[in-house]
Amino acid sequence: MKYFLSVFIALLVFGCSPSLYKPDVADAKLQESLLAGRKIYVSRCSNCHNLHLPKEFTSEIWKKQVDLMQVRAGISDDEKNLILNYLLYDKK
Ligand code: HEC
Repeated sequence: MKYFLSVFIALLVFGCSPSLYKPDVADAKLQESLLAGRKIYVSRCSNCHNLHLPKEFTSEIWKKQVDLMQVRAGISDDEKNLILNYLLYDKK
């Protein structure tokens, strides 16, 4: 029962963003911070518009956009940096 409940909640939370990649890296600390960034991104950035995929913008544009959106989403600098780390992780 508990299992089904958590699957249900996971579907609710992540169901709307199936193509938003889930980080899977060996470094546990990095993995944790990427997942935290993803979580904040999904929960704080999807209220007003659909989530944009990381590949939609270059790193430069992402940095500018997330700066602009920080005010709208009411997030701290730390939260912003977690989001950016997540979004830009697979870009170099
Ligand atoms: C309070 C509403 C609101 C929240 C919360 C919000 N946005 Fe936005 N966002 C907008 C609006 C409105 C636009 C389009 C108009 C503009 O750019 O001023 C936009 C545009 C964007 C764009 C540009 C899209 C394009 O095609 O150019 C990106 C990227 C973006 N938001 C990312 C984010 C991120 C990341 C977050 C979370 C930190 C976020 N948004 C949170 C309202 C919001």
